[in-house]
Amino acid sequence: MQSEIEFCDEGAILSAKEPLGDGLAHLTFQAPRIAKAARPGQFVMFYPLSEARSHDPLLGRPMAIAGASGGAVEICLSVAGRGTEIIYSLPIGARCRMRGPLGSGFSAPRDKIMLVGGGIGVAPLIFAHVFYGASASSMRFVMGIPHKGWGSFVNWVGRRVQALHVWSDDGSIGEKGSAVDAACALYSGEEIWTCGPVTMLRSLVRRIPDARISASLERRMACGYGGCHGCVVPTANGPKRVCRDGPVFNAEEVRWDEL
Ligand SMILES: Cc1cc2nc3c(=O)[nH]c(=O)nc-3n(C[C@H](O)[C@H](O)[C@H](O)COP(=O)(O)OP(=O)(O)OC[C@H]3O[C@@H](n4cnc5c(N)ncnc54)[C@H](O)[C@@H]3O)c2cc1C
Ligand code: FES
Repeated sequence: MQSEIEFCDEGAILSAKEPLGDGLAHLTFQAPRIAKAARPGQFVMFYPLSEARSHDPLLGRPMAIAGASGGAVEICLSVAGRGTEIIYSLPIGARCRMRGPLGSGFSAPRDKIMLVGGGIGVAPLIFAHVFYGASASSMRFVMGIPHKGWGSFVNWVGRRVQALHVWSDDGSIGEKGSAVDAACALYSGEEIWTCGPVTMLRSLVRRIPDARISASLERRMACGYGGCHGCVVPTANGPKRVCRDGPVFNAEEVRWDEL
């Protein structure tokens, strides 16, 4: 589903920051225009440097919208490298450039939904749960994490999501196993919305082949709005841009073997 208005660039102000251990954090930015237009599954490109500093790093960093209300855009951050480290280190009150909302998100639910998130991939699913929770006849939330270092993050998600099923690789929190193991164990014919590493998504599609699955893909991005073709993925209908044609795709369409 495409948002009704196009994206915009907006000066966003960091208004709240909650470190959640293991390089994870929940950040809230005041960005009213983007917040008003945002829909679950869409993302923002984040240009972390203040206007006073140089354009380094030059490219924005894509971040799923984890919440949007009251003029605020929320993201869940996992530090992966230099760009995300800069975002993590921003002080309250920092002003950044945010571009969004970008991409097409999840379509309004028709029936029962199971949300399946791997690691930080839960971020867009949290927004989907809050935004569409009342529309679906039921919405279960499955979250896979690596180890107990993610405990604070799990607690944070648990404050927003009912019917949360947590599975961890080492069994330290919830059941032992991956998000895919959890989805296989709990699946009862509902539609699946999922986000996480490509290996996880591919495994999910293979292990529950009869499920209707909408998968949010990640790719390295440059422009974020369809201009550079730097983020294409192979599909049954030819190459598609994750930033513009996705990031949410019908899993049947994606050529998983070629990703
Ligand atoms: C649509 C979309 C939504 C995203 N949502 C979130 C989110 O909600 N929270 C979050 O923390 N991260 C999210 N990411 C991933 C995030 O954009 C990358 O981790 C970030 O751009 C890395 O930048 P860096 O400068 O910190 O790391 P770099 O130094 O550029 O790279 C560090 C490591 O991260 C890997 N990496 C970089 N970009 C990506 C990417 N796009 N996907 C997978 N691996 C990558 C690199 O291969 C490298 O191994 C999302 C990515 C996309 C495409
Ligand atoms: S990042 Fe430029 S087309 Fe997708």
